[in-house]
Amino acid sequence: MTIREILLDDLNPQAFIDDQCRRIADQVGTSRAVNALSGGVDSSVTTMLAHRALGARLLTYFIDNGLMRQGEPQAVVAAMKRLGVPVELVDARREFFAALQGKTDPEDKRQAITDTFYRTVFGRLVRESGAPFLLQGTIYTDVEETVAGIKRQHNILAQLGIDTQAAFGYQVIEPLIQLRKTGVRMVGKALGMPEQMYHRPPFPGPALAARVIGEATPERIALVRKATVVVEEALAGSAAFQYMAILHADRVTGVRDGKREYGFQIEIRCWDSQDAVTASPTRLDFAVLRKMADRMTSEVPGVVSVTYNLATKPPSTIEAV
Ligand code: XMP
Repeated sequence: MTIREILLDDLNPQAFIDDQCRRIADQVGTSRAVNALSGGVDSSVTTMLAHRALGARLLTYFIDNGLMRQGEPQAVVAAMKRLGVPVELVDARREFFAALQGKTDPEDKRQAITDTFYRTVFGRLVRESGAPFLLQGTIYTDVEETVAGIKRQHNILAQLGIDTQAAFGYQVIEPLIQLRKTGVRMVGKALGMPEQMYHRPPFPGPALAARVIGEATPERIALVRKATVVVEEALAGSAAFQYMAILHADRVTGVRDGKREYGFQIEIRCWDSQDAVTASPTRLDFAVLRKMADRMTSEVPGVVSVTYNLATKPPSTIEAV
């Protein structure tokens, strides 16, 4: 790996912002760039940097892949609008679910999402807009884990030897690639972003598909989306690094209203971590866990079993897929 990490001690957020804005402006020149906003910290900070560098020459898209959390596409677009950044919402739900159909292997699912995102959807947007550059918020940890073969982060391309110009018809610009999450948050703060934006818990590129073990059908995504609401409402005020609900592929026997119910299993994960490279389960209060389980079994249709993950990363990973 030839990318040089900028360590926190060496990071001057203001100088970083000036430097990256200059680089983006130099590289794009008089042309335009398209920008992939997911609403996560990394892509939001990238969007703000690029907006500062390019103004109206930046075309920012939020791709609704059908795998986002409840109300997320509209909320992200509205939050950026409040910061003066126009974002176009692109409905690509059908394309993503078609690509995921029948896929159960984690890496096959990630590959399907990567291909749909970069080739099908952004390939089309780039062609239509005539912008030869795509901005995205890849960070150092994404590269590190993918190159180490731990898990293919969906946004890693050049570092895997993929020539984006030849493969998709555009060049990728990654202004945050030398930073880890803490550094990205410092830059977000220095850019004047609201804290709830630069301090959002991370959310994976493959979105809720990373939290459905087995096939990510519209129905199974809808189920994990409801379970996610329960976990996020219960843990939003906690200091945990990340928390999530995972839908298992296996079903288990339950009993409801005196009848056997062969139902779904939800696993709750809640992590303490600095940088997602290592993590340990948060010591949650038992009453909080019980309350989540009660809501899960009453509000999420068909759920009869709720568990809490106690393993550390490694050997676990933060997401289940
Ligand atoms: P894992 O599951 O590998 O996750 O321990 C480490 C961190 O990265 C996030 N994550 C992803 N982010 N694309 C992303 O942009 C991905 O494919 C992906 N997979 C995991 C995860 O949420 C955690 O913060």
